[in-house]
Amino acid sequence: MSETNTKQYKRVSEFYDEKTLFITGAAGFLGSVLLEVLLRCLPGIKNIFILLRSKKGVLPNERKKLIFQKRVFCKLLEENPNAPEKVIVVEGDISEPNLGMSDEDFIKVTNEATIIFHVAATISFIKPLRYIAVHNCVGVKNVIELGRKMKNLEALVYTSTAYSNSNRSLIEEIIYRLPWNGERFLKALESDLNNEFEKLAADCKPKWPNSYTFSKCLSENIIADMASDLPVIIIRPSVIATIWKSPLQGYVEEGSGVVDLPLGIGKGFIRVLVADMNSRFDLVPVDIVANVHVAAAWSVATERLPSLSIINCTGGPWNVTFELFSKTLKEMAFKQLIPKSFQMPSIVFVNNAYLYKLLALYEHYLPAYVFDAILYLKGSKFRLVKLYKFLDGLVDQLIFFLRNEIDFKQENYIALAEQMDPRDKEIFSMYRDDIDIVKMFDEIPNANPYFDWKVTDKLTPKERRELVIKRTLAAHLVKGVTLILLGYILYKCLYLIFTLIF
Ligand SMILES: NC(=O)c1ccc[n+]([C@@H]2O[C@H](COP(=O)([O-])OP(=O)(O)OC[C@H]3O[C@@H](n4cnc5c(N)ncnc54)[C@H](OP(=O)(O)O)[C@@H]3O)[C@@H](O)[C@H]2O)c1
Repeated sequence: MSETNTKQYKRVSEFYDEKTLFITGAAGFLGSVLLEVLLRCLPGIKNIFILLRSKKGVLPNERKKLIFQKRVFCKLLEENPNAPEKVIVVEGDISEPNLGMSDEDFIKVTNEATIIFHVAATISFIKPLRYIAVHNCVGVKNVIELGRKMKNLEALVYTSTAYSNSNRSLIEEIIYRLPWNGERFLKALESDLNNEFEKLAADCKPKWPNSYTFSKCLSENIIADMASDLPVIIIRPSVIATIWKSPLQGYVEEGSGVVDLPLGIGKGFIRVLVADMNSRFDLVPVDIVANVHVAAAWSVATERLPSLSIINCTGGPWNVTFELFSKTLKEMAFKQLIPKSFQMPSIVFVNNAYLYKLLALYEHYLPAYVFDAILYLKGSKFRLVKLYKFLDGLVDQLIFFLRNEIDFKQENYIALAEQMDPRDKEIFSMYRDDIDIVKMFDEIPNANPYFDWKVTDKLTPKERRELVIKRTLAAHLVKGVTLILLGYILYKCLYLIFTLIF
């Protein structure tokens, strides 16, 4: 625990005054929103180190500029244009020893920073287990080692996921232990001998729906085994959705899991999906997740919540069923057609994997083959069938989450919210009862004119709508003609059989 008596900090803002923080994953969706909340709502913060790696040829310092160009920072930059000066880039990679930092940076960080937010992770559902574990689990071990070397570590906040134990139907705010110690898994991962790590993972039961969720469970176990004496707190968000309140309602980032699916539906690309209509879609707005991170560091540092506490940061009472979710999306897309729409939106949810395959053949692949043939004749390289095959790969990974409902206990969540001073409760709101999903999704087009709502061609909205309606009618025509043809063939076959028998 810290050298100072931190209990005195009644207010969250008092606690953060003059503090230096260290954040991983600041270039990502949650990391950027967290960075924004910290800079805007806690002006007393001294400095924030952000760990960034080079990506696609863009160097870390250049990436910092790109982070601050995100629309989510507009309000902050308007109020305080100098805020980015507090943010210091350290080049590194969580999967490397000392997080890949230079000796100089490492000394600076361990001397100055007292609070760690470890947000970075690979959230791929399809990459191999070993790759995911090297980034997520070895990353956690490296962050723990950094925390240990810090002169005055006050709080280490780790972002896990509500689905780290998705092999269960009721998740309490506890660590569910794996059969072996976290260090044994890490050793097996390092030794790379006889697929030892993969064998250990395969022996953990019941099975996890994918490698990512298993890696998060193992990361929590590594923390329990290697860091229970440190001031650590684990946050488990469910599916992270758009900003509910501040600073920009409806803000979301391209490529975030929660957008891909709705956008696919909204663009009329996904027309059938395997999911239980009545199942709850557990969404939690990203600003609430960021607020929980801020409050959690204060709470564990001031010993209001003990180390090692877990917070299930899940949707709670306001959450929606898939049925309401899809209705909302359809209405949204009808009001404001997404410029890159393929067809007008329409979605059918089925709860049977075989029926899904059959309907997907009719709704997705049939028109896709015809459109691809036309595109091929026009010399275009764009392939719809390829996109649908990719979608099916994704659906295979998501199927568990689309058809199963998990209940989450939230005692620590409620305790954390209760601990805050009423003024802090206003600023770092964790309150979810007034969340209105329709309102939240309605704001997506206004808050995100960057990607799918960005009109890149010369069509006016009216011309675009006409084109999309034409495509929808063409797809219906293809499907209708095919149905008639199939019906005709079936009729002929039955007729032949009938005449042969009688
Ligand atoms: N999104 C959700 O619905 C959701 C739900 C529950 C929990 N979570 C958790 O929330 C956290 C943030 O998720 P997100 O949605 O914000 O994901 P994201 O947008 O993909 O951001 C992840 C960040 O981690 C960084 N990162 C990954 N591997 C790294 C490495 N080896 N070294 C340094 N940085 C690395 C990425 O850096 P680059 O930009 O360089 O790639 C990126 O900035 C993750 O821990 C995730 O497991 C997310």
